Amino acid sequence: MPDTTSTYDIAAGERLAEFVAEPPASGSPNSSPSRGRRPTIASTRRCAMTRGPAVPTPTPGDDVMSQVQFDFHDSVVMITGAANGIGRELAERFAAAGAKLVLVDKSDTVDTLAAGLGGETLTTVLDITDEAGVEALVERGVARFGRIDVLVNNAGIGPLAPAEAMDTALWDATQAVNLRGVFFGCRAVGRRMLAAGYGRIVNLASQAASVGLEGHLAYCTSKSGVLGLTRTLALEWGPRGVTVNAVSPTVVDTELGRYGWAGEKGERMKALIPTRRFATPAEIAHGVMFLASREAAMINGADLRIDGGYTAC
Ligand SMILES: NC(=O)c1ccc[n+]([C@@H]2O[C@H](COP(=O)([O-])OP(=O)(O)OC[C@H]3O[C@@H](n4cnc5c(N)ncnc54)[C@H](O)[C@@H]3O)[C@@H](O)[C@H]2O)c1
Repeated sequence: MPDTTSTYDIAAGERLAEFVAEPPASGSPNSSPSRGRRPTIASTRRCAMTRGPAVPTPTPGDDVMSQVQFDFHDSVVMITGAANGIGRELAERFAAAGAKLVLVDKSDTVDTLAAGLGGETLTTVLDITDEAGVEALVERGVARFGRIDVLVNNAGIGPLAPAEAMDTALWDATQAVNLRGVFFGCRAVGRRMLAAGYGRIVNLASQAASVGLEGHLAYCTSKSGVLGLTRTLALEWGPRGVTVNAVSPTVVDTELGRYGWAGEKGERMKALIPTRRFATPAEIAHGVMFLASREAAMINGADLRIDGGYTAC
């Protein structure tokens, strides 16, 4: 097997230094050249190493897809984690498109957000890991608006820790929010959608569902689970009018994105994204809204990667 390290430039070298483990001591069971040079995240991403001009990030407020006009006047849309980041962007854009909203977040700033949106909105301060609370919220949403047409499972957390030091509580908390919480939402809303014979569910996964990311063991695992859940629900509910899809962003300019990818680490990540920048919340919201539209009826069980090509290489 060729020495893959010799084909890289300085940036690639940095990347390898980050991901390639020290070669095992000679005589150890792993000391053969092939075992010592197993493909790594870096060595399987050669095309991402190509240097090119940076693509300017749209300034806040830029509508990068303004040719697309969404109309959700006849729709009831439930969004989890609506108080900040991508969820807030979704709430604002669905409201502008005329949707009636059921918004939930563990932060009470979701109430302030709703007050500024106009339109008809039901908000609840709730942790989505509260199974009974999610059931009660969905019940209230249906009682208020008659049905829920669209569910966006957006709430998520991304605590970082090296795998060998991963605390069990941190692991459990991540799976509870990112996976169990998504299951609770899908099950509670899905039952009503199946009864109505129509529904659109969009689950926020991540590029981390498809590739490993250093320090993201619990997060990557939970997001891979979201894809499995999405595909299985698509299979079971598709015949009954309910589509279930996932959206997988690269790093997005939100509090969560900045927590994981600040500073030099973030710049190194940008260099590996073919579009050379992070995504904006608006770019993610537009992908979600398309999958939530009636026009997306034939898209089911898909994972829409909005990652500038990061996972394509
Ligand atoms: N920002 C990124 O770089 C990025 C990349 C890929 C995927 N994602 C995914 O997109 C989704 C939104 O991320 P974001 O960047 O907007 O995050 P964010 O931290 O900016 O906002 C998340 C929101 O969810 C809420 N929330 C968290 N846990 C909750 C819980 N248990 N119950 C109720 N509400 C809860 C928070 O209060 C917050 O308002 C997440 O699922 C995340 O994993 C984000």
